[in-house]
Amino acid sequence: MIKTLTFLGIESSCDDTAAAIVRNSSSQGPEILSSVVDGQTAIHAAFGGVVPELAARAHAERIDHCIEKALSKAHLSFADLDAIAVTAGPGLIGGVLSGVMCAKGLSAALGLPLIGVNHLAGHALTPRLTDGLAFPYIMLLVSGGHCQFLYVEQADLFTRLGASIDDAPGEAFDKIAKILGLAQPGGPEVERVAQSGDPKRFALPRPLLDRAGCDMSFSGLKTAVLRLRNSLVTTQGGLTLQDRADICAGFQAAVTDVLAEKSRRALALLPNVTNFAVAGGVAANGPIRAALKELCDRKTVGFLAPPLALCTDNAAMIAWAGLERYALGYRDDLTLSARPRWPLDVTSPALLGSGKKGAKA
Ligand code: KG4
Ligand code: ZN
Repeated sequence: MIKTLTFLGIESSCDDTAAAIVRNSSSQGPEILSSVVDGQTAIHAAFGGVVPELAARAHAERIDHCIEKALSKAHLSFADLDAIAVTAGPGLIGGVLSGVMCAKGLSAALGLPLIGVNHLAGHALTPRLTDGLAFPYIMLLVSGGHCQFLYVEQADLFTRLGASIDDAPGEAFDKIAKILGLAQPGGPEVERVAQSGDPKRFALPRPLLDRAGCDMSFSGLKTAVLRLRNSLVTTQGGLTLQDRADICAGFQAAVTDVLAEKSRRALALLPNVTNFAVAGGVAANGPIRAALKELCDRKTVGFLAPPLALCTDNAAMIAWAGLERYALGYRDDLTLSARPRWPLDVTSPALLGSGKKGAKA
């Protein structure tokens, strides 16, 4: 008998309010019926970063509209849903709470099962939603708040192979843009400006390449760029357009080298794994994507990068992770709590940096 399940997903852990409907049928696999993302970039732009209180308030104000929109785009009503999946962490607590309270209300009012989802699991399981990728695989999650290699064996079994011990690369891209007076978010701007730059003009560090393993660090690289800018300003009185382009190109090349080398080591740890996937906003970067693809081609490992809209924060990945958890028998109830910290791999020691900041995932 063909079994079909239709889940509402809700995401509100950082600065995107999102709702989506995903349907999974035992005969046809998953289908995203709608995915609505209401970003808050404009709200936080003047502050140079996400302001948690403003984010929480915006989520609370927008979440029901996002859900209505997701239902109407899918041409469905609440009566067509089988369960509610919601990000229960990690993230900014006020935002996560907005989503969890909304999901609990809907679950109680509609009598539907409630599934709390780890936001990072949402990212890590996305290649299964988009490409039907089979377990196991290695995932590099690389965004504005997170940077880690995960060995994904099941929808509830993740092993962290390595992670950034300080900043995430997206955060570093954003700070470099700020240092150079470029617009936010910094990643796409730095990539654009780097196109006319010489990556070899300035010698920038490749942190932690001299240390074994897959852990990474990007804060020293950021400081090196700050020092470089300051010394150019002192000696020349300012930066030329070419200086800016060369700094962006040098920085991007350093991040690319670190991510590619650490990815090579992650693959070497698990030689029998045949697929490598990336997710997170930084996966949108052309040279980084190309370097990772080239590495995988060389190792004859499959390379998967979900479409950008599903690489960055969205609720379709939460609905899908909810469907995967539901299939494994997980159910939550009204005692579900919002968790600012929620490591996917509880057996790995906590790191001070990425993954503990919780602002973004
Ligand atoms: O996954 P995401 O939308 O949000 C979270 O961080 O959760 O990622 C956003 C981050 C920002 O730091 C942004 O600067 C970075 O991804 N990013 C990029 C590019 N596009 C976005 N970084 C480098 N190159 C890009 N093309
Ligand atoms: Zn995220």
